[in-house]
Amino acid sequence: MKSAARPPSRRRPSPPRPPRAAAIDLDANRRLLNRYRFVEHELLRILAGWLPRTATFELKCELGRSIWESAVHVNALYLRLREIQSPAFQPPEDAALITVLRELPHAPDEFALALGVYQVLTPALIAALATHETATLPNSDQPSVYALRHALLDLRTQQARMEPLLAAAARAGRITRAARRWQQYIAQLLAAAGGINGLARRPARRPAAPAGRTEFKAPREAERDARFTQRAADLAVMPGEDDYDAHTVEEFERYSTEMLAAETVALVLHSVRGMPWEFEYDTARHLYDEVRHCLMGYEWMRTHGMDPFQSPQYLHIFKWRSQFPPVMQYCLLTMGNEVHAFPYRHRRVEAHQKSGDRLSEQFVRYDIADETQHVRFGHRWLPELLKHTGEKRSLKKYLQDVIAVWDTEYRSGKLTLNVE
Ligand SMILES: [Fe+2]
Ligand SMILES: [Fe+2]
Repeated sequence: MKSAARPPSRRRPSPPRPPRAAAIDLDANRRLLNRYRFVEHELLRILAGWLPRTATFELKCELGRSIWESAVHVNALYLRLREIQSPAFQPPEDAALITVLRELPHAPDEFALALGVYQVLTPALIAALATHETATLPNSDQPSVYALRHALLDLRTQQARMEPLLAAAARAGRITRAARRWQQYIAQLLAAAGGINGLARRPARRPAAPAGRTEFKAPREAERDARFTQRAADLAVMPGEDDYDAHTVEEFERYSTEMLAAETVALVLHSVRGMPWEFEYDTARHLYDEVRHCLMGYEWMRTHGMDPFQSPQYLHIFKWRSQFPPVMQYCLLTMGNEVHAFPYRHRRVEAHQKSGDRLSEQFVRYDIADETQHVRFGHRWLPELLKHTGEKRSLKKYLQDVIAVWDTEYRSGKLTLNVE
């Protein structure tokens, strides 16, 4: 049967529907983005304080990476927030949320801290960002969506790395009852703040701190787990550079101990308050670079059949630097160790090229690129830090004095420890 042709429709096309009202309007958006920023900003400072105190090597490395990734998220939120409010960073005006981050550092041990961060705060943050991503106006607020999506990618990947690490710690009996109790406490505090976005119904009862709560103090000594057997060896004289093979082994074994530099920069980041955001952003990157340099040493040693856990750890170097004010620690590292390493590093690139060792050459060239930035950070921030702390000496005189200490106590290998 032949079907009849349909007559052309005389109806006008229906007008486009107005966009649905966004669940998050501009004012709510400011408040929420600032809450996420606050959580990650406080978190990175807390993790920086815990980095030297954390013994388990794999967890320590993850903290370093989290600090940098959180700094990248805070920076993206900073760039967005400054477009919609001034100043960009504001207190969250929610005492309960502030309490969560004030309490978090006082964890009974490193795994209790990790549970609070990676099994309470981060999953809650992921849920909040994922909701925000679809609840805001998709076109008008695209720059926020862009920042949140990128943060989500990092946070979900971070979760995927942390899950096996925490499961292995649980299997090894490293997660105590006090740590579980602490995790519960952080979850209750977050619930009392209405969750990350503050919108959930808040239970009336304020949780009480568990007995295991341990007041956090900035560490003056660096921790290592039980696999490290040589903790306090003195820096030995290295085989001469003319003995290429022997010297190269020592060169990369020294890289494997660069966690010490990460720990000093972490302590500086944790201790200095009130500097511009960019200082925190740079130091977060600086410390994560040092974690990567340490891992580069591990990679090299393992490739060459060596066990990096057998390397001497020189923990007294961290202890020695930590006795000085944070600005001086930063100056000792950037204007002492880092500025002076370049002629040696360039000679090493040449030596590796000459011997045809491409991997070693690449490692050192990447290291030089990072170290160039670290020295740049030192030049950029030391004058600001001196102003910030009310230092009376000129920059030139300050540098002279600090380098004199570095020369006589560090370079000469004496390392005086003025322990109180
Ligand atoms: Fe380094
Ligand atoms: Fe460095």
